Amino acid sequence: MDKLIINGPTRLMGEVTISGAKNAAVAIIPAVILSDEVCRLENVPDISDTKIVIEILLKLGAIVNRINKNTIEIDPRPIRTTTVPHSLAKRMRASYYLIGALLGKFNKARVSMPGGCDLGIRPIDLHIKGFEALGAEVKTENAMIDCKAVNLIGRPVYLDMVSVGATVNIMLAAVKAYGLTVIENAAKEPHIVDLANFLNSMGADIRGAGTDIIKIYGVPRLGGVTYSIIPDQIEAGTYMVAAAATRGNVLIKNVIPKHLESITAKLEEIGAIVEEYDDAVRVIGAEEYTKCNIKTMPHPGFPTDMQPQFGVLLSMAKGTSIISENIWGNRFKYLDEVRRMGVMAVADGQVAVFEGSCKLTGAPVAATDLRAGAAMIIAAMAAEGRSEIENIYHVERGYEDIVSKLNAMGADITRVSVDDRPVNTVKAELA
Ligand code: UD1
Repeated sequence: MDKLIINGPTRLMGEVTISGAKNAAVAIIPAVILSDEVCRLENVPDISDTKIVIEILLKLGAIVNRINKNTIEIDPRPIRTTTVPHSLAKRMRASYYLIGALLGKFNKARVSMPGGCDLGIRPIDLHIKGFEALGAEVKTENAMIDCKAVNLIGRPVYLDMVSVGATVNIMLAAVKAYGLTVIENAAKEPHIVDLANFLNSMGADIRGAGTDIIKIYGVPRLGGVTYSIIPDQIEAGTYMVAAAATRGNVLIKNVIPKHLESITAKLEEIGAIVEEYDDAVRVIGAEEYTKCNIKTMPHPGFPTDMQPQFGVLLSMAKGTSIISENIWGNRFKYLDEVRRMGVMAVADGQVAVFEGSCKLTGAPVAATDLRAGAAMIIAAMAAEGRSEIENIYHVERGYEDIVSKLNAMGADITRVSVDDRPVNTVKAELA
């Protein structure tokens, strides 16, 4: 288990370039299965989640050539199996996109129930409802999801809840189905639009992505393309909050400022300065921030994936702030860790109250999930003294080169390998 040693406080200064979007890449890489030709993907983030999806495609029989760090070529034509075993699927949540992609291409898929961050109950009933609406028979046995269809037929699908994963999966299954599929109450996240753009560039006919009604006219064949994945909204937002929390001045390059509006609005509300350019934003931190309240919502609302990072920042603001978490049932676990660093916050169910004006100090902590780990890195850079963050593999699922990107802006972070002694033993030694 590797960890980070961070000496603070740091004032982040300089610039950082944002990588391709994790959540777009983990949908677009499986979507290549639907093509009948080779596809080249550019701006693929070099993170463990994309490595796992690529490994799954290789195991299915695809040929994957890495052209450079962020460009891959995938030939899906040699794929011969439609089964994704537990050993692979358990390693990431988005392995469920293999179901939509394999079903859409071969009319069958057998995929183990997915793994991923523990954010509370993460059902996939809406995905299954969508596959069934298109005519698939879906059985779940021994934690394997087994889908079969004679033919997939386009139909209206109404999602009871706005779900990113269900919207993506239904698009993947419907893109080659016969006739028109209409997804109502669809998710509108930037990576939904990116997936639709990718599929359309291969020859699909998808209209309305980015609104809550997506129409998918099935096509018989998808071809090969070269496609560049959009910049990561959450990685950009994380560096924006890091700049504010360290009272720094950072130019965040290769972003789509429109995707960042809800984050920009909250940063400005508490007193940070955000300057917008065509494909960059500059965040200039303030010496003092004022409280604000946040409700996480589906896009274009404030993203749940930015909630832990903002929680740390609000603990430094003047006054009491309240965060309502409306997407996930168990996303305040990070508070137990950051309290060790001086954050004064309590959660009751879906609501957390942050007492402001906290003075953060370095401490040994353990990342509890991907975004929680990012929040701990921000807290450690803002804190006085030395912090150690264990379970850093969570962060490496979603942030490309985070240590070198932050160190280039003045942070003092070292990544070290540690032995596998129980976490409590190591914490006791550090204390
Ligand atoms: C995606 C993101 C994740 C983000 C989340 C919310 C990817 C790979 N992951 O996750 O980073 O935190 O969106 O923005 O893109 N739900 C159901 N039944 C379902 C599916 C979802 O009840 O079949 C519920 C969930 O429990 C949750 C809500 O719907 O409360 C939203 O989940 P969803 O949008 O599906 O999240 P993911 O796609 O898993």
